[in-house]
Amino acid sequence: MNPIEQLLKDREQARANEDPCANLCTVASVDAHNLPQARTLVLREVGSRLALFLNQTSPKWQQITSTPVICVVVWLPSVNVQYRLQCRVEPVEKRLVDESWLLRPRIPKQLDWFYTTRQAQSTSVADRQSLVEAITGLNDPEHEFAPRTARGWYLKPFHVDRLDLANPSGVHDRHGYALVAGVWQEAVLVP
Ligand SMILES: Cc1cc2nc3c(=O)[nH]c(=O)nc-3n(C[C@H](O)[C@H](O)[C@H](O)COP(=O)(O)O)c2cc1C
Repeated sequence: MNPIEQLLKDREQARANEDPCANLCTVASVDAHNLPQARTLVLREVGSRLALFLNQTSPKWQQITSTPVICVVVWLPSVNVQYRLQCRVEPVEKRLVDESWLLRPRIPKQLDWFYTTRQAQSTSVADRQSLVEAITGLNDPEHEFAPRTARGWYLKPFHVDRLDLANPSGVHDRHGYALVAGVWQEAVLVP
């Protein structure tokens, strides 16, 4: 079985179930101090490939760039399934990121320009009111187009752990998948 095809099917079912986690994942990385970091991100599908869209000024950009492997966790409560993926990454074509960026709501667009022209994502500011004023005040027509810092990574999973809690036997069904020479090798795991 191809676990990525299965993940796409499970996400489709979760979307049909109006699962609030259907489009989300948790991405874990390691920072410059060798400490673990994790955050929720939208897990996108670009064609049949999984991708993350993020701003290049963010700490996670640096972390993902400097470590060869990231861990991505997907939990779909409405289908009772967890995936843990170890992935290498590859940049999404900037043209595709820019096209998708045009569909973003106004404030996230302004925020992306704020990161680019004023202050990097995740840095601290003196107070929230000035921050909100500075972001909402960015109305230059140039800001209708994606900044250079809007970027994306394709995920290239090479190890997948799928845990299905919904097995009628009551014993959770867990499988590991390793990509060996382009072919997924499957193993049954103790849940
Ligand atoms: C439901 C949800 C979805 C999110 N989606 C994204 C996303 O797609 N891209 C993003 O950069 N941050 C997203 N965030 C915010 C991140 O979790 C995080 O706070 C931010 O990216 C800063 O992370 P960093 O300091 O590790 O770079 C999302 C947060 C939540 C709660």
